[in-house]
Amino acid sequence: ALAAATEEGGSDFVSKLKSQKKRIAIFYGSQTGTAEEYATKLAKEAKSRFGTSSLVLDPEEYEFEKLDQMPEDSVAVFVMATYGEGEPTDNAVGLMEFLENETPEFSNGSERLENLNYVIFGLGNRTYEHFNAVARKLDTRLQSLGAKRIGERGEGDDDKSMEEDYLAWKDSMFEALASSLNFEEGGGGDVPDFKVTELADHPEDKVYHGELSARALLGTKGIHDAKNPYNAVIQEARELFVEGTADRTCVHVEFDIEGSGISYQHGDHIAVWAHNPEQEVDRVLAVFGLLDKRLSVIDVESLDPTLAKVPFPVPTTYEAVFRHYIDVTSTASRQTLNSFAKFAPTPEIQAKLEKVCANKDTFQAEIGSRLLKTAEAMQWIAGDDLQADASSITPWNIPFDRVISDLPRVGPRFYSISSSPKMHPKSVHITAVVLRYKANDSSPWVHGLATNFISSIKMEKNGEKPSGSTDPRFGTPKYSLNGPRDAYTKDGKFRAPIHIRRSNFRLPTSPKIPVIMVGPGTGVAPFRSFVQDRVCSAEKALEKSNGKTPEETLKDWGNIWLFYGCRKTDEDFLYRDEWPQYAQKLGGKFLMETSVSREKFKPDGSKLYVQDLIWERRKQIAEDILERKAYIYICGEAKGMAQDVEAIFGKILEEAKGSAGEGKKEMKLLKERSRLLLDVWS
Ligand code: 2AM
Repeated sequence: ALAAATEEGGSDFVSKLKSQKKRIAIFYGSQTGTAEEYATKLAKEAKSRFGTSSLVLDPEEYEFEKLDQMPEDSVAVFVMATYGEGEPTDNAVGLMEFLENETPEFSNGSERLENLNYVIFGLGNRTYEHFNAVARKLDTRLQSLGAKRIGERGEGDDDKSMEEDYLAWKDSMFEALASSLNFEEGGGGDVPDFKVTELADHPEDKVYHGELSARALLGTKGIHDAKNPYNAVIQEARELFVEGTADRTCVHVEFDIEGSGISYQHGDHIAVWAHNPEQEVDRVLAVFGLLDKRLSVIDVESLDPTLAKVPFPVPTTYEAVFRHYIDVTSTASRQTLNSFAKFAPTPEIQAKLEKVCANKDTFQAEIGSRLLKTAEAMQWIAGDDLQADASSITPWNIPFDRVISDLPRVGPRFYSISSSPKMHPKSVHITAVVLRYKANDSSPWVHGLATNFISSIKMEKNGEKPSGSTDPRFGTPKYSLNGPRDAYTKDGKFRAPIHIRRSNFRLPTSPKIPVIMVGPGTGVAPFRSFVQDRVCSAEKALEKSNGKTPEETLKDWGNIWLFYGCRKTDEDFLYRDEWPQYAQKLGGKFLMETSVSREKFKPDGSKLYVQDLIWERRKQIAEDILERKAYIYICGEAKGMAQDVEAIFGKILEEAKGSAGEGKKEMKLLKERSRLLLDVWS
């Protein structure tokens, strides 16, 4: 079930724990790195409280079959994210499948976990139906196997309050740990995780300037995945909304994957690795007093590699760290700011910071609600003008190891792919609204990292306004588009690092089965891919049909429903010219219904949405679901839209089956059979 861990001691975490005299093993189920960060946070806090180091473990790399052999005075901590529709993260699939066996066979042949003490914190998102399903399932299962949970289960809500949920949970958890397992409080204190050294004469060709992997610097070949993204040429980037009518921007981008060895399927996601805009890079360099040293070469060493890995390749430069590796655009965290207090430039600033960070409410009022980024929050606390030039920012003398420990890494951003590999085998398309908003008029802009990066490339590539030309409406950020060593712009083309993430959002293999797709706004992205897939199959069938019409050729096919919604026909109707072309090839099977919510209303004047169109067609929809076993797909915004749409399907089934109970049963069946699939975001 596992790949051998490469570090010393192999994949046997119990031996490792014993030989290193540790008592805490922290497993993380992490997809984008957040759960891993919380796992590390817990390890650090355990160290400063109890003076005990922990093992922080990727379950994919260790023999979780040995959980039964954990010593009785030790504890296993599970930090588990729930992903998609209640699924475990990729690296936790093995662990969850193993434990869900009716009789899991542990390493010494036992089927029980009587000796195991554990603690659990889940990361989820309340806008999804299966809130923290993985942590809950794991908790129930461990208990049924006889394991003993120490303290309450923690549940974080990524939609609103992840950090505060964590902070609210961890203190009582640590207290429970101290009393149940006799961990002694007050051991380690505040110890650094890393040692940072400035290097005087380091060969330039060995310095990382933003490369995301060692392979990228050394130029060695290998497969492209999350650990080794591919610098893909952006062969096309264009605006999808009608220019001049909407004050929003939606970009269509085509990444060239020819020759990369990358393949994809309809329904997959593409990860785009963007980096921070120059203004924010300068701001953090200035806040940490590093403006003059931006190109100094540094080496970073972990003082306890099992607890904290160096989060980026080294040696590197301060500038590369803040441009490519560390997330400087997220809203400030209370815990992080708090940990900077003792390094404040003056006692007055320290006092102000401590007051602001004193509790959740003061922090929310001053920082959270204004969406201030870490450096902006520090500027505001120090009394700086947020708009002022970087050179006038008050510097804080914070040891750089603390900066690395306390700020998160830059993670990739994921998009539902909007092209079909059958129609576009050599490129991957995405459809993304460029995110920019502010909390209120007097707050700074928040710019979605990857969408603004891509939008910048679009502008430069097409010779439009140069990126960073300040549009007073949006404060468009400027990015360094060259990448490390001009890797993104060599030969005059623009590139961005990408990798593909597989999904189970798939069409049924047989086109005879009807499909019902619901995707208003950019939720239509994967359905462009689905429809293209069916168009290619139809073309193939037509070629072999000896001159029959598309209608005759496809007469056995199921309906291909697409419920789409936009605001106005002449503004934000995505791919408006393409749908009729697809319809033509699909012999009457393609049934597209579009709501235009700011143009066509219900008789009572209220908004008409996709769910209303579905309800209007309920007779046919119910037949397709109940008689022809249709698949239903919903993509787009999780909170309002997806929930409302699911409710409409519930109502339709209730009506068709004649009772609420029967309707609910049918809904449950749809989900169990994976005939109702969601790709939603919040
Ligand atoms: P609105 O912005 O006019 O309210 C794509 O964003 C489309 O989805 C828009 O037409 C938007 O309408 C619509 N939309 C917003 N909330 C929705 C909901 N809860 N259900 C369905 N459609 C919604």
